[in-house]
Order: sequence, then C-alpha cells, then structure tokens
Amino acid sequence: MNHELPFALAEDRREFPFFLAPVAGYSDAAYRALCYEHGAGLCYTEMVSAEALVRHHPITRELLQRDPAETVYAIQLFGANPDVLARAVEIVAAWNPAVIDLNCGCPVPKIVKSGAGSALLKEPHRIGEIVRAMRSASSVPVSIKIRKGWDAGSENYLEVAAIAIDAGACAITLHGRTRAQGYAGTADWDAISKLVQYSSVPVFGSGDVFSPQQAIAMRGKTGCAGVMVARGAMGNPFIFEQIRSLMQGAIPSNPTPAMIAEAARRHLQLAITYLGEHTACIEFRKHFCAYTKGHPGGAALRAKAVTSSTFAEFEDLLYRFASHT
Ligand SMILES: Cc1cc2nc3c(=O)[nH]c(=O)nc-3n(C[C@H](O)[C@H](O)[C@H](O)COP(=O)(O)O)c2cc1C
Repeated sequence: MNHELPFALAEDRREFPFFLAPVAGYSDAAYRALCYEHGAGLCYTEMVSAEALVRHHPITRELLQRDPAETVYAIQLFGANPDVLARAVEIVAAWNPAVIDLNCGCPVPKIVKSGAGSALLKEPHRIGEIVRAMRSASSVPVSIKIRKGWDAGSENYLEVAAIAIDAGACAITLHGRTRAQGYAGTADWDAISKLVQYSSVPVFGSGDVFSPQQAIAMRGKTGCAGVMVARGAMGNPFIFEQIRSLMQGAIPSNPTPAMIAEAARRHLQLAITYLGEHTACIEFRKHFCAYTKGHPGGAALRAKAVTSSTFAEFEDLLYRFASHT
C-alpha cells in the first residue's frame, strides 16, 4: 500500500487528495477553475485525443487551456498507438501538468472501435508499451485510469496494473465497474481495496462518490491514496469544500440557492472568457440543469434554460432560482 502522491499538489492542498475526475463535456477550463476555487485537490482535463493533438487540431488544443485560478492540473490523453501517445506527451508537457493520465476505461463505442479507452483492457501489453513510450517522451509522471476489465468474465485490473507499474506508471485510478457495465449497478469498492493491497504505486478510487460522506468512506474503506469525483461534482463544486469540512470534523452545510446561483454565474462568466458568449451559453444549458436538479422551482427554469443562449437570459434564470422560496 503506497499513499505518497507521486506528483506535487499546490502547497495549500497537499493533504487533500480529492480530485475532480476527467469528465468529457464537463471538466473544461471554466469548470475546473471553479472546482479548484472550491477546494478540489487537483482537477483532470477531459480526455484529449492524442491523434488530434499530433495532427495539430486547433479545437483539441483548446481542451488543454488552464485558467490562472487553477495553479496545478492533470491532463488526460486517449489513444491506442504508443508512438502517437509519445508525441502527444511531448506536446502536452509544455503545458506543465502535474501528471499525464492515459484513459483505459472509456466505454464509448467510437473510442473503443479505435482501440483506445476500455479496448486497451483487452490488450494489457499494449498498455505497457504505451506507458513506456509516454514515459520516455518527457519527465512528467504518467498514470493510467482503468475499469475492472472488459466484462464480468474478464476482470483483469490486477494484471493491467502490474504491467502498467512495470512500464513506469506512477499511479492507477480504478473505476470499480467493467466496460460492459457502463454506469449500471454499483461501483465495486472491494476491487479498489484489492488493488490498494496489491499495488506498489498509489491507487485512486473512482465510482459512486455523490456526497462528502461517500468520499471519506471510499478512502476509509478501501485505503486508496486519492478519490475522484465525477457525477457527484456536476453542478456541485461545493462537494470539495464539504469534504474538507467533514475531514475537519464539522458537519458540512448545504449551499443555499443563492450560493448555487452565484457559483453558476461565475462558471458561466469563466466559460464565456474561453468559448465566447454563444458557445458558452449553449454548453451551459446542461450545467444549468445540473445546478438546479432536485431544487424546488428548478423544473420550470430548466425548461427555459434549454432554449437560452445569452448571458442575460441565464442571469435572469439564476436570479429567479436564487429568489425562489
Ligand atoms: C459524462 C461523463 C464523461 C466522462 N468522461 C470521462 C473521461 O473523459 N475520462 C475518463 O477517464 N473518465 C470519464 N468518465 C468516467 C468518470 O471519470 C468516472 O470514472 C465515472 O463516472 C465513475 O465515477 P462517478 O460515480 O464519481 O461518476 C466520464 C463519466 C461521465 C458520466
């Protein structure tokens, strides 16, 4: 069991290994900055295509952007070809990430068909080749994020971890589901415990952390060195400060609608600086739904949000959300 993080977090969060997971379509520069401001130990970019990076695709490079508020970050890459991943590492190393992570868990058919994401679990030796190639391309530490295996009959996370560690991976994140499961059922935290016992490098747990209590419980029950939060952080950057409160022995308070509206407004403002008003507002529709989910009066506002496309429209909706009694 190894608890020492293999990369440096910012000075003020060294003792706080609770991370915003890589989440395609969500963990962009704006949302990562917001989560970082709310105390996340580290935030991961969404998965970035190594192939597109080496082809100098301009939109792909935008995924690497980092707000000045986010002083340290992690970049996640996906791909299947060791040479291409090595070249992608050379490119992203210039962005100065604390760690570069290889996606070996994405279940999306288009990604799997290209041999990347969870398809790599079927070829553990290729994961070894890729990690070796990534390691040789820069001095930035390389980690991998995996699922338990392809399906129930082929759970091979211990074998995959051993190969990746031998190739030089500095940490392994395990999402406790197989590719075949998608997001169904519950995440298997026992598998995370097993990997923690087995691994000589730090293990980060992922799966079903929706509350600060669950974040602390995952760490306590599995002994993992770090915890990733994905769906539980959607529309909820507050989860990171709630985890911190709980760690300090306080009862975490729930944000009021006014606090949620303020965070959402900041999120949209940040997004506009990166994407421009129109694209940011279209993208923000899903975030608005996440921020207001489960709150009284939210449904009527969400119905309006899905056709809103200006900052003024969202400001009005957030004002109404904050003042709903
Ligand atoms: C919409 C969505 C996008 C995701 N994108 C990525 C990704 O880009 N890279 C990755 O490794 N995992 C991705 N994941 C998986 C999450 O990082 C995480 O492992 C999984 O959702 C389980 O954690 P949770 O229960 O906290 O959501 C994604 C998950 C969701 C729901």
